Amino acid sequence: MNELKTYLEEHKDTHLDQLKDLLSIPSVSTDPERRDDVRRAAQWVKEAMEAAGLTARIDDTPGHPIVYGERLNAGADAPTILIYGHYDVQPPDPLELWDSGPFEPTIRDGKIVARGAADDKGQFLTHIKALEAHMAVRGELPVNVKVLIEGEEEIGSKNLAPYLEAHKEALASDVVVISDTHMFAPGVPSITYGLRGLTYFELEIEGPDHDLHSGLYGGGVANPINVLCDVIARLKDDSGRIQIEGFYDDVRDLTDEERAAWATLPFDEEGFRAEAGSEQLTGEAGFTTLERLWARPTLDCNGVVGGFTGEGAKTVLPSVARAKFSCRLVPDQDPRDIEDKVEAHLARIIPDSVRFKLTRMHGGQPVIVSTESDAIQAAGRALTEAFGGETVMIRGGGSIPVVADFKRILGVDSVLMGFGLPDDRLHSPNEKFDLAQYFGGILAAALFLDEIAPSA
Ligand code: BES
Ligand code: MN
Ligand code: MN
Repeated sequence: MNELKTYLEEHKDTHLDQLKDLLSIPSVSTDPERRDDVRRAAQWVKEAMEAAGLTARIDDTPGHPIVYGERLNAGADAPTILIYGHYDVQPPDPLELWDSGPFEPTIRDGKIVARGAADDKGQFLTHIKALEAHMAVRGELPVNVKVLIEGEEEIGSKNLAPYLEAHKEALASDVVVISDTHMFAPGVPSITYGLRGLTYFELEIEGPDHDLHSGLYGGGVANPINVLCDVIARLKDDSGRIQIEGFYDDVRDLTDEERAAWATLPFDEEGFRAEAGSEQLTGEAGFTTLERLWARPTLDCNGVVGGFTGEGAKTVLPSVARAKFSCRLVPDQDPRDIEDKVEAHLARIIPDSVRFKLTRMHGGQPVIVSTESDAIQAAGRALTEAFGGETVMIRGGGSIPVVADFKRILGVDSVLMGFGLPDDRLHSPNEKFDLAQYFGGILAAALFLDEIAPSA
């Protein structure tokens, strides 16, 4: 154990340099112009796996490649773990809000600032570095290890489920380990046992078939922007309750135990408000902020476009208006079912004076796993040893759709041991990962292998 810690202490500089290297590759999966960069990141990950003693390969998909590595020398009595992560990142826009280049990793205040620092490059790299450390110090791994790092998580992982189906036997494992969430707070090691699901839409409303003079036609012809705003406004009532018929039918009530447990968490409500930079917190009546974030569904508009938005004024009655909106879902809501309900609702409320088109974009199932499993207990011990303090059980408001796929296709539960922090600014300008979390994460990932091995 001490040898492992000494090795990690001595390799901090190298581990940081390698993270910088990976973060300087702009692997933005949604941007067709970045296709080659995405592949370059896949190649980088494959080489990192090989340096850690894994047999690795790049598997092409109809989209971006999946990197797969394994080392299965621990014997049939040892468990097999499947480590999952994603090497793709969100677009860095808006660029002008970054204090340094999004792909020029910069250390400020003990944090590394770059797109993907915490989501998810810095986090999955902890596991590869932990494997490398075991190999260097002991010459072998204590458990059988499979590692799958994909390149399409940020665009909905649509090629991953078919890949899991096609490689079902090869990917068989006892548990999936994922570091792509965050701890409750600094110094509070955490395991995330539930995530919200998602369903994402684009709505296009077309009024007249070309832009019109708003004086010659206004008042006599439907304005698609007005209709769109009206429709969006009517999706919720004044108290914030979503008005789509049947939307709440399958929402599982919080248990008294969960409510009580969450109430004991050291949640800094004012700190959360300030970090969000919002004047006030709002939400559904009858629920605390943590309950709203972790156990209640939402409907949020993500973008609106339409009409004249340039300098000055133009008296136009535009032809088209578009909005993107999405719902975060909770157990036991089903994304498909919600999609149908949203479409039926819109068909009822959109007036006949316009045409509309609803496009269903990506989605994912909500998940909840048992906190009692051996793997979760082992992860809890490893986290406590690496970060100090008791490990707490939390849920997360974000989504990792593949967690439900691992369960459905491979029959395996996931352990979400996130090393990020709540203020990492995921998907935002100046995304960061605290170096203490990176190094602590490598240690926790290394200790976890010992904790879950049979002799531990
Ligand atoms: N790593 C995040 C999800 C996350 C972050 C969960 C922190 C819990 C805590 C992941 O990369 C992500 O951003 N997921 C997307 C879903 C996807 C379908 C685009 C999300 O939640 O919006
Ligand atoms: Mn992520
Ligand atoms: Mn993300």
